[in-house]
Amino acid sequence: VDIAILGTGFVGGALGRRWAAEGHNVVYGSRDPEGSKAVELLAASPGAKVTSIADAAQGAGVVVLATPWPAAEATLKAAGDLQGKVLVDCVNPINATFTGLDLGFDASAGEAVADWAPGAKVVKAFNTVSAATMDNADFGEHLPAMFFCGDDEEAKQTVAQLAKDLGLEAFDAGDLTMSRYLEPFAMLYIKLAIKQKWGGDCAFKVLRR
Ligand SMILES: NC(=O)c1ccc[n+]([C@@H]2O[C@H](COP(=O)([O-])OP(=O)(O)OC[C@H]3O[C@@H](n4cnc5c(N)ncnc54)[C@H](OP(=O)(O)O)[C@@H]3O)[C@@H](O)[C@H]2O)c1
Repeated sequence: VDIAILGTGFVGGALGRRWAAEGHNVVYGSRDPEGSKAVELLAASPGAKVTSIADAAQGAGVVVLATPWPAAEATLKAAGDLQGKVLVDCVNPINATFTGLDLGFDASAGEAVADWAPGAKVVKAFNTVSAATMDNADFGEHLPAMFFCGDDEEAKQTVAQLAKDLGLEAFDAGDLTMSRYLEPFAMLYIKLAIKQKWGGDCAFKVLRR
């Protein structure tokens, strides 16, 4: 799969490194494609490339949004027309003081992203797992659970496979409005990781019978 990753931080870097290692064509879209951060990331992601946000997004069938919430709209604007593409939204709409979410329950970042990228097949995914788990999903016999949601079945299948490629167990949570619940669920994770000091090396697991 040709994957553009917009944002070269913890999430973008972890996803890009792992997918490149799995044989996907990874292109990072960065505000500063020639900067030292991008050069370092490339060295850690054999086979991947880095370019502008627009060039990366226009050249790929799957576009991953991995920027902070306040930068999401501008990044999508810079990406250009994403009609028909799978747009994977990893963003949690964390507020400026990092104490809670900017929106929720009757709105979500997932739905805002869909409004900002008309015609894109938006799948909310990877927002409830830590970058550390994306980078290394090995918890022994247990697979970390990852929920996703969206309105396009084929796009969701693509994302489910990409999650599997990372070693995650992916669960379809329903349509894109389910982002309203996946984002607060991510906030639970963030509170456990930071306030309760669990750190990034933990993940949720689903039991069913
Ligand atoms: N960290 C986690 O464990 C985790 C887990 C799940 C979801 N998330 C969500 O995923 C998103 C990315 O998180 P992250 O931890 O990877 O963040 P991060 O390390 O801060 O990286 C974000 C990247 O976005 C790009 N960017 C574009 N516009 C920006 C701006 N105005 N200010 C800052 N960066 C900008 C930057 O790449 P360039 O400089 O190359 O453009 C930057 O490296 C967030 O929405 C977060 O809520 C995070």
